[in-house]
Amino acid sequence: MLQARRLGYAVLSAADLGLDLAYYIDILGLRLIDRSPSRAVLATPQGIECLVLESGADPALTALAFQVAPATDLVEACRLLGAADVRAVVRPGRTPAIERVLAFKDPGGVEIELFTELRSVTACAGQAGIGPLKLGHVARMVPHTAEFTAFYENLLGFRRSDWSGEAMMFMRCGPDHHTVNFFQGATRLNHIAFEVKDYSELARAADLLRGWRLPLDWGPARHHIGHNIACYHSNPAGVRIELYCEMDQMPDEELGHWDPRPWHEERPQRPRNWPVAPRNAWIPDAP
Ligand SMILES: [Fe+2]
Repeated sequence: MLQARRLGYAVLSAADLGLDLAYYIDILGLRLIDRSPSRAVLATPQGIECLVLESGADPALTALAFQVAPATDLVEACRLLGAADVRAVVRPGRTPAIERVLAFKDPGGVEIELFTELRSVTACAGQAGIGPLKLGHVARMVPHTAEFTAFYENLLGFRRSDWSGEAMMFMRCGPDHHTVNFFQGATRLNHIAFEVKDYSELARAADLLRGWRLPLDWGPARHHIGHNIACYHSNPAGVRIELYCEMDQMPDEELGHWDPRPWHEERPQRPRNWPVAPRNAWIPDAP
């Protein structure tokens, strides 16, 4: 079975590349590392690719790239997927740092691109804008969470982290609590989330966003599921952006619990179903 290990980048369509780039570079603090008339590739300040913007209609998620183990034989994996009736192809990557990918589509038509080697591009000095550490997760509304859960488990090796019946599912492919999450509903991108270093960086980001007239619409709040401290705003193109820190970590899968933290409800805290999933651990939800 294939085993995704790390989120590489998300590909979003952009109706106005110039508008999007102004936000992602000047405000979020990403670095432009490649540009053509219809595509822009962005990296973190540390030079790790994290976002690709491509000209298109409404802002939508069109692809997700995941890193797999360096020894993975992409051609053999392509053959095995074909034997399982999954149409896949090995083709050149779409970014400067990724030479080739194994590509196939998930149940929502989003292209999955698997690559084996992480190569950083040249990082820029200084810090403009927020400057996140990485693209941490992508949250989507999907018609049937069970179908997506099965696909990401069976074809990409994701594990279930926390869920609430069929209403929501959070899944991990590495130590981070979630790298993809699915909410039941009409198909659309819910949000993309960038990790910042710590809570002081989150507060600095909130102050910067206010100055740029992009106020938070939720948070800072500590989630129950994942226990990350998070805040949310929408960018000028209408894409909801989460900034977060202190997400639950599971460094040892065989132990099966999250690294203990003071704010956990259970000791140890393990993956579980939440019949009722409060959104904010600091302020009780209204009855
Ligand atoms: Fe999130």
